[in-house]
Amino acid sequence: MAILERHLLGVESMSPDEVFSILDLADSYASLNRDKVKHSNVLAGMTQINMFFENSTRTQSSFELAGKRLGADVMNMAVAKSSIAKGETLIDTALTLNAMRPDLIVVRHPSSGAVNLLSEKVNCSVVNAGDGRHEHPTQALLDALTIRRAKGRLARLSIAICGDIAHSRVARSNILLLGKLGNRIRLVGPRTLMPSGIDEFGVEVYDDLKTGIEGADVVMMLRLQNERMEGAFVPSVREYYHLYGLNAEKLQVAKSDAIVMHPGPMNRGVEIDGALADDISRSVIQDQVEMGVAVRMAVLDLLARNLGRDS
Ligand code: CP
Repeated sequence: MAILERHLLGVESMSPDEVFSILDLADSYASLNRDKVKHSNVLAGMTQINMFFENSTRTQSSFELAGKRLGADVMNMAVAKSSIAKGETLIDTALTLNAMRPDLIVVRHPSSGAVNLLSEKVNCSVVNAGDGRHEHPTQALLDALTIRRAKGRLARLSIAICGDIAHSRVARSNILLLGKLGNRIRLVGPRTLMPSGIDEFGVEVYDDLKTGIEGADVVMMLRLQNERMEGAFVPSVREYYHLYGLNAEKLQVAKSDAIVMHPGPMNRGVEIDGALADDISRSVIQDQVEMGVAVRMAVLDLLARNLGRDS
């Protein structure tokens, strides 16, 4: 069976073998990206459209770089200046772009499920760059690659995901992906920021940060996703930082070689201390950004290999 047969909509249905194939290819792109000449022509002649209906720094720029480094013609749709502002729907917009015969469409959308819906309406491959609080598959893949490179393995690790779990598609995709690879997943945060039905995910839940990260190999911090909250979920930012913000002192209870991760964007002094985020002896945050380009190159490459197979 081909890897990434048609679309990349989520990690939920991915097998461990499929994950490892993507990460192995991404490792080779990480090497290419450290060369002076960072170019390949595996997407030469192909067209990639990036449609971001939500703000993005890392994901949009790395998908653009990934497509360009692989030789594709990349178009970033300026959503704010598009006819969406005149009332055109997501689906009509997608059908319009589909008629221009792109090969790959990368989509971020604030509604969970919107990217899956769009994928049913177009002829090309669709990549989910984050949909609501549902999935952010390339983030989970780049996090997995960063962990594998730092720890030398991607199983039997104790991984604490801390903060606003309820509103986070990054948390959901990481729970699914890192869980299926045989890691111990702990979720840490106030009960108000835990999703309902979390017990079905096969994870451990803690509402005390130090207890939750004790002995962890990996500590992944998440920001408060205020844009997806209706009302106040924490008493104050000051109290949140006191109880759930990670700093070097609190990190001492984790393993002595534990790594600190954050998908970004980061709110220094809210979920993480700025000095810890910048301490490259513990923080792999910049490695995550670097691996983001490599993983997205691997995903685009693998999808492109299967284009036209069944048409
Ligand atoms: N991690 C992440 O998705 O960052 P952006 O919102 O900047 O793309």
